Amino acid sequence: MDVDLSRLEPVLDHYDKGDGSALIHALQDLQATYRYLPAEGVKAISEHLQVPLARAYAAATFYKAFSLEPQGRTLIQVCKGTACHVRGAQLLEDELCRALDIEVGGTTKDQDYTVKTVNCVGACAMAPLVIIGEKYHGKAKATRLTKLVTEAQQVSKGGSDDEA
Ligand code: FES
Repeated sequence: MDVDLSRLEPVLDHYDKGDGSALIHALQDLQATYRYLPAEGVKAISEHLQVPLARAYAAATFYKAFSLEPQGRTLIQVCKGTACHVRGAQLLEDELCRALDIEVGGTTKDQDYTVKTVNCVGACAMAPLVIIGEKYHGKAKATRLTKLVTEAQQVSKGGSDDEA
């Protein structure tokens, strides 16, 4: 995948040269800009902040919020913590992957969706939980997932965001 490097400059300009303490923030900006951490961007940040490339990659791989692979416009996260697991998280994951025709961790061909699993996010009372984009969907049911995903797509393409 070609990376539009012109979008990298504003990220770098935001941080002082040699300011290694800004590594995580710079990686967050990079992730927000590209929806993942392109190798060219990680290298440029490492050079700009004068942080060893190995340290930049250590941070990039340590935090689950970062991805080294391109991600879809909408991230769908299925909680696989214990409470969600015992309340049917596997069924939700299976249904999502079947409906979108991808494996967990994968991205749809049109780059619209990426499905990932996460550990407990601290909302066990809502189990089983699916997070679509920024929105938490508690007591999620496999039969409603397709509708929720379609709604999320409409929101990301400029539609209404009224309903949970
Ligand atoms: S186990 Fe899913 S939110 Fe806690």
